[in-house]
Amino acid sequence: MIKKLKQHQDDFDLLISKVSSLKELKQLRSEFLGKKGCVSLMLNEMRSLPDDQKPQAGKHINEFKQSVATLIQEKTQVFEKAFDQTSVNSEEFDTTLPGRRNSSGSIHPVTQIMDEIISIFFSLGFKVEEGPEIESDFYNFEALNIPKDHPARDMQDTFYIGNDVLRTHTSPVQIHVMENQKPPLRIIAPGKVFRCDSDVSHTPMFHQIEGLMVDENLSFGDLKGVMNIFLHEIFGQQTKTRFRPSFFPFTCPSAEVDIECVMCSGKGCQVCSKTGWLEILGCGMVDPAVFKSVNYDSERWLGFAFGLGIERIAMLKYRINDIRLFFENDLRFLKQF
Ligand code: DAH
Repeated sequence: MIKKLKQHQDDFDLLISKVSSLKELKQLRSEFLGKKGCVSLMLNEMRSLPDDQKPQAGKHINEFKQSVATLIQEKTQVFEKAFDQTSVNSEEFDTTLPGRRNSSGSIHPVTQIMDEIISIFFSLGFKVEEGPEIESDFYNFEALNIPKDHPARDMQDTFYIGNDVLRTHTSPVQIHVMENQKPPLRIIAPGKVFRCDSDVSHTPMFHQIEGLMVDENLSFGDLKGVMNIFLHEIFGQQTKTRFRPSFFPFTCPSAEVDIECVMCSGKGCQVCSKTGWLEILGCGMVDPAVFKSVNYDSERWLGFAFGLGIERIAMLKYRINDIRLFFENDLRFLKQF
């Protein structure tokens, strides 16, 4: 029995030293440790030994079984590690696959319209001014002839920051400019404005352009002329416009300007609420109370001002029905412009 065991041990030592793959190792394991392997056979044979020899033989067989199992286990780990490495090294690289491209960006539609509007007014002699997005009550309301308790304050759902506000319109830039510059002047002020409002046609932040011209002998006719030139440039020369009397605390007289509906050409549709007209901007002659708050002599100087929402113009021009699309940053939407 001991002799046989010695022979098996020698066989195993030789075989395991020659093993060159996981497959061969598996086979070796079944030859020695499997159900019909040599260890099982020897344990069977052991039963026929005389009782006094059994413990001794059992001990040797078990030791042999242990050592075979350990060596196979060790060798398996060595092979597995080597296999992982070679599979990484030899991984096929398919040079025919298309590469990953960086998609190129595009100018945001709101910025595009803003740039277009700026260049139209630039050609009419207006220069660009900017103002802060956080304003005091004075600049956002008071100096624009919107005193406390004035109902016009309710028209704009204001975000308050302590005593200050997020500007609800770009009109306060008028005040900053007139405080710092002497007339005559022509400015436009593009920028972000904020109102606590959100639905298909409102977002809490949107963009406006404010315009202001101050000179001697300005008339409502000049305002009309400038607005018409602007609207014809943006929407096309055939676009019909109309001026409707309106009210703004900072202009008098005030008007709202409509264009003939771009969707139905004035026939009446859902977009224009069956009126055939779309409201585009507010404007008017600067109220003398505003000149007074910046110490301009309203006996000598006249002015006109206007304000418009950029997203609204972009929506009409590109036929977009939900303002929120501008701010979702979905590349499929943004790439179309
Ligand atoms: N500030 C106004 C608004 O946000 C727009 C506006 C209307 C500006 C008339 C003006 C103007 O300068 O004259 O609704």
